[in-house]
Amino acid sequence: MCGIVGAIADRDVVPVLVEGLKRLEYRGYDSAGLAVLDDGRLRRVRRTGRVSEMEAAAREQGLAASLGIGHTRWATHGGVTEDNAHPHISFGELAVVHNGIIENHDAQRARLQDAGYAFESETDTEVIAHLVHFHRKQGLDLLAAVQAAVRELTGAYAIAVVGLDDPDRMVVARMGCPLLVGLGESENFVASDVSAIIQATRRVIFLEEGDTAELTRDGVRVFGEDGQAAEREVHVSDVSLASLELGPYSHFMQKEIHEQPRAISDTIEAVIDNDAFGPELFGADAAEVLAGIEGIKILACGTSYYAGLVAGYWIESIAGLPCSVEIASEYRYRDAVPHPRHLVVTISQSGETLDTMEALKYAKSLGHEATLSICNVPESAIPRASRLVYYTRAGAEIGVASTKAFTTQLVALFTVACTLAKLHGRLDPETEAAHIDALRHLPGSVQHALNLEPQITAWSERFAPKANALFLGRGVHYPIALEGALKLKEISYIHAEAYPAGELKHGPLALVDADMPVVVIAPNDRLLEKVKSNMQEVRARGGELYVFTDADSEFGPSEGVHVIRTPRHVGVLSPIVHTIPVQLLAYHVALARGTDVDKPRNLAKSVTVE
Ligand code: G6P
Repeated sequence: MCGIVGAIADRDVVPVLVEGLKRLEYRGYDSAGLAVLDDGRLRRVRRTGRVSEMEAAAREQGLAASLGIGHTRWATHGGVTEDNAHPHISFGELAVVHNGIIENHDAQRARLQDAGYAFESETDTEVIAHLVHFHRKQGLDLLAAVQAAVRELTGAYAIAVVGLDDPDRMVVARMGCPLLVGLGESENFVASDVSAIIQATRRVIFLEEGDTAELTRDGVRVFGEDGQAAEREVHVSDVSLASLELGPYSHFMQKEIHEQPRAISDTIEAVIDNDAFGPELFGADAAEVLAGIEGIKILACGTSYYAGLVAGYWIESIAGLPCSVEIASEYRYRDAVPHPRHLVVTISQSGETLDTMEALKYAKSLGHEATLSICNVPESAIPRASRLVYYTRAGAEIGVASTKAFTTQLVALFTVACTLAKLHGRLDPETEAAHIDALRHLPGSVQHALNLEPQITAWSERFAPKANALFLGRGVHYPIALEGALKLKEISYIHAEAYPAGELKHGPLALVDADMPVVVIAPNDRLLEKVKSNMQEVRARGGELYVFTDADSEFGPSEGVHVIRTPRHVGVLSPIVHTIPVQLLAYHVALARGTDVDKPRNLAKSVTVE
């Protein structure tokens, strides 16, 4: 949450900072701000709302400078006000932008107040500004002042600092939140994520935990946690500009839904090319790490957690290994009983969700040595903290509501299940070939499901005026019902809940009346007859059913029962195909209700706070 960007150059960097902030808006969009050093003045522009509003104000004020920092905020400490918007300034002399949470901010605030510092905001960040200023006034240079300040902070931070007395440098630091440095020609940059600076440079250094760095126009010096100069590898980012642009689509979510056939085929490319499942897909020492694994523990949040729930069904049925799936924020605070021979799998699109990261650390502290991360962002924190990794190749996902990340996580997890099955002698060559064939045909089936969009759009008009909706599914499709309900509530703000269809009669049936649309995921699998009985329970109470079934399921519409047929049942990969219609439904209902599809209220894509 929160995005930061900074630039030092020979040219006006304000357009670079504004462009960067627009690309970082997925990290938060409560307020935005810039601080620049312009001819011996520290100038700041802040606005609540979107970056475009702040951009207009910056233009009006004729903001231009060759050194500056910017921020887009997802409010944690302090409400959504201009006073709480970053950058925060100390004594008009030093400005800071911050992503993360400073846990000891109360104690530091009291100490700084005693030292004569007045606070203008309710944020934890203002503490950083004053603390650096305090050390600067003790005679330390900017780099040393930042290093001294961060030693006194606990919590998570990525910060960038500029000061009036230092017109030719910027100092940055990170602990627990992502930060990278971009290397240009006589200009250098810093950002939460490479998309923010890709128009200026592709050459980046991913700062490590505890690093500080000093950026001048001509160079970058990085220092490790011990304060000693450190060498960091320079990466050349292959993020494509097209993946960051909307192209012909109206929303990133729409674009990302439609990109799924491609994203899935990219993610499974190695499996298809090898024509086999194997541990080498997960890293060089995977065979060693996976040998002797007797069970799986999956940890994740949000949509990634639902991907984990699907994987739980697959791992138990395909690999025959016990699998438990847990919400990361719950696991990290309970007295869990570790099982040293269990593989801990974390799933995270961003690779930086704090609860998932902390759950992983907790699992490791309990003695779990075998760890695997399923992640979409190379070099992010969670895969770096894991022994094994499978990168989904969904490409940049910008819409806050996750879509292509989810389906690519599912194919990655299916690969995990099949690989574990093979290592445990539970995957005969015919079944392996059949599963690979199913994967090969999956992008085509997903495309067929996407072609249902006009029918789903027609349904969305009926949903738009509703206040509530129920989603039902059974077995491996129950998590898809959960994901459908989550998508609908996230972006359309219709209250939606999902239940295993068999649970309906134990409570939620009391909610069913003519005003409650009930969406049912009803594929043509061995549970279809059971699901049909549950649908009868709804109809008998006057509930209206919206059923997604397969083309071959011999299940048709009737009074109060609307049916859309996805392609022929695709067997074990069916949950992936059935995800598409619920994504499209949520998208079109949100459109019909006129909500901000890509930036739903109160949410952010990357959640780096508890
Ligand atoms: C946020 C996003 C969700 C996402 C969840 C977990 O809540 O809005 O779309 O599923 O975080 O994120 P991760 O990056 O760990 O998958």
